Amino acid sequence: MRVLLGVCGGIAAYKAAELVRALRGAGHEVRCALTRSAESFVTPLTLEVLSTERVYRQEYLQPTETGEELHVELAAWAEAICVVPATAHTIGRLAHGLADDFLTTTVLAFDGPIIVAPAMHSIMWMQPAVQSNAELLRKRGVAIVGPVIGELASGGSGVGRLVDLTVLLDVIERSQGSGELAGLTVLVTAGPTHEAIDPVRFLSNRSSGKMGFALAAEAARRGARSVLVAGPVELPTPAGVERIDVVSAAEMHEAVERRAARADLIIMVAAVGDFRVSSTAHRKLEKSELSGGLSLQQTPDILKGLAESAPGALRVGFAAETENLEAGACRKLEQKDAAFIIANDVSRSDIGFGQNENEVLVFSRDAEPQLIPKASKDAIARSLFDILGPAVLAHGAALSRVAS
Ligand code: CTP
Repeated sequence: MRVLLGVCGGIAAYKAAELVRALRGAGHEVRCALTRSAESFVTPLTLEVLSTERVYRQEYLQPTETGEELHVELAAWAEAICVVPATAHTIGRLAHGLADDFLTTTVLAFDGPIIVAPAMHSIMWMQPAVQSNAELLRKRGVAIVGPVIGELASGGSGVGRLVDLTVLLDVIERSQGSGELAGLTVLVTAGPTHEAIDPVRFLSNRSSGKMGFALAAEAARRGARSVLVAGPVELPTPAGVERIDVVSAAEMHEAVERRAARADLIIMVAAVGDFRVSSTAHRKLEKSELSGGLSLQQTPDILKGLAESAPGALRVGFAAETENLEAGACRKLEQKDAAFIIANDVSRSDIGFGQNENEVLVFSRDAEPQLIPKASKDAIARSLFDILGPAVLAHGAALSRVAS
């Protein structure tokens, strides 16, 4: 695994050097980026020797050999970023999306698991400002590990000590997950979209988001990095899932496109609104203004567009049909260039939209349609991953054969 260690200026910075050794000993590649103040506590040379890699300081404005900006290049290289020790200042900068040095700029360019290991005096750690910054990061899926209770550098003891390095090593390794899909990224969309007519009215559909949430949960359980782009639904975020909330089809399109190139499997479960209002009113419209009808525009077909923006990903669509299930599913398989279309009959009141149960038919290019009989959406998600899991592994293996 490729780990970027971000080292901040605190007494515990010397432990970052030990962590480099531990990570290398466990077979991982490590690169280090130091904040300005970190250099007062640990020298770049120490980290360079231990990591056998160049150490990143503040030289990011220099052009690289590939012409890529250095922070973007490093962010693309890393599979996990661990900030250790994280100072109150850097926790604040990360929480507020600031990019005023090489490390914070690289973190902003990174789209993967981030682990933050704070170490500071307990009075600082307990400050409401620091606590709420840490909470903000936690809510965004950042793993805040520690600090723990123990002896503090400034004397006395309290909550503020850097967590044990073996714990940190374990968290870093688990950030890639274990299980059959470890190391893979699964991107799932769920729920309806709302297309605003004016500030109080919108166009939408009956999707509850339950099937998409069940699939995202199952992807996480099988060890994948599970990213869920959710339309407006009230469901709790499943364990281990990174959730991005969106409202409209345009927002969903943008959120998916931004993450698609790094995904191995993309499952478009969302019932994306096919039409949006040509121009949304900024004030509530009078009845009389609506009586002439609405002017509508088609939204982009997200799944179809992924054939171009994420050609390497295994792409899966859902088809909600009320009649001619098979014909509709086969047409969508072709038109959207998907590997699988999962079809369900939404005219049945006992399954599908809004229900806790579903029954689906799985269509693929070279196999007969496969029925997954009526069961809870969690059970359907498990059965679907029994099919999609091996398919994505085979797809990845085939791609690497082509590349080599
Ligand atoms: N889809 C999409 N972008 C859209 C509309 C649909 O990505 N603008 C995706 C859905 O997430 C689903 C698949 O396409 O995975 C099929 O959606 P469905 O609504 O059944 O099909 P449509 O393309 O809308 O076709 P039709 O309305 O003709 O049935």
